[in-house]
Amino acid sequence: MLTKKYTCVKVDQRKDGITFVIFNRPEKRNAMSPTFHIEMMDVLNELEIDPDTKVVVLTGAGTAYSAGQDLKEYFREGDKNPSVRAAASAASRWRSDKLWLYSKPTIAMVNGYCIGGAFTHCICSDFAVAANEAIFSLSEVNWGILPGGMVSKMVSDTLSARNAMFYACTGRTFNGKKAAEIGLVNYAVPLKSLKKEVVKLARELMEKNPNVLRGTKHAIRATQNMDWMAAGDYLAAKGAEIKQRDAARNHDAYSEGIRQFIDEKAYKPVFSPYHGAASGKPPAKLPSTRKKKAAAASAVTRSTSSGPARSSSGGKKV
Ligand code: ACO
Repeated sequence: MLTKKYTCVKVDQRKDGITFVIFNRPEKRNAMSPTFHIEMMDVLNELEIDPDTKVVVLTGAGTAYSAGQDLKEYFREGDKNPSVRAAASAASRWRSDKLWLYSKPTIAMVNGYCIGGAFTHCICSDFAVAANEAIFSLSEVNWGILPGGMVSKMVSDTLSARNAMFYACTGRTFNGKKAAEIGLVNYAVPLKSLKKEVVKLARELMEKNPNVLRGTKHAIRATQNMDWMAAGDYLAAKGAEIKQRDAARNHDAYSEGIRQFIDEKAYKPVFSPYHGAASGKPPAKLPSTRKKKAAAASAVTRSTSSGPARSSSGGKKV
């Protein structure tokens, strides 16, 4: 549990393992000042090793997710004070390098304005869910710089060439729905249900084996810029690392996942993770999907006029 207090960031740690990191400068639309960056790097470092945190959600207080770099404190004042700027610049890598290979799943919950440099942590979080009403803009072109600090690179890696060029050169605003349509976020929902939807996603992630999840997200990141041979070697090594990490908690996801499906008929990998994936401690008594299948079949025989039989997915929605 994190006990430190910060001035620009609020940390809300829920008992279920979801930790909300809230950018807390609503009066400045959560613009990123040097202090903000230093605090964010510290928060992420702390949460990465905090056993009570399973998923990190980034969001903003008030009407903004983040209005980008603080034009006054980060740029203008930083220009006059190179040592402050250098420290802020190093710390600002929480948005890129730190998030890119973070050990735990991260979700950007884009609640409002997401401007310029805020695209970095929106893109480098593993997942992004926006409010339909959120407003995005690469405003740099409107106030006199190019989208620097790797924003141009990230935007052209994430969006189509047409959209990257269009939004970077016009600075035109677009909403959360459009952000989902062009692949900047995973999906968009009405603001009033944003938190509920993000919690739902976080819970889904927390049901997985955390070592497998970590290896998978690193694999997706790292292989983007590898050639075929290097990717093959990397993935084999990553698979071995998962086994090693699981062994440290006396577990073996691979064998257990196969056993529960093939021998025990206890779950279907298409619909859910195996039992005990998250904790690494499968229950001694496993439920059987065979019984559910038999029950479903007898329900259909009892009532042939009530429409198609339900799948044997344990009632889970697909
Ligand atoms: N840097 C510094 N201060 C900012 C920033 C910012 N990026 N964004 C907002 N603020 C401050 C304003 O100066 C104002 O401060 P004040 O109350 O002391 O005057 C306060 O936050 C509220 O801002 P308003 O403009 O009054 O808020 P409003 O809700 O009307 O508009 C909006 C919000 C659209 C986000 C507007 O503030 C804006 O255009 N901000 C600039 C965004 C921007 O271009 N960021 C830089 C991106 S490029 C990069 O990050 C490298």
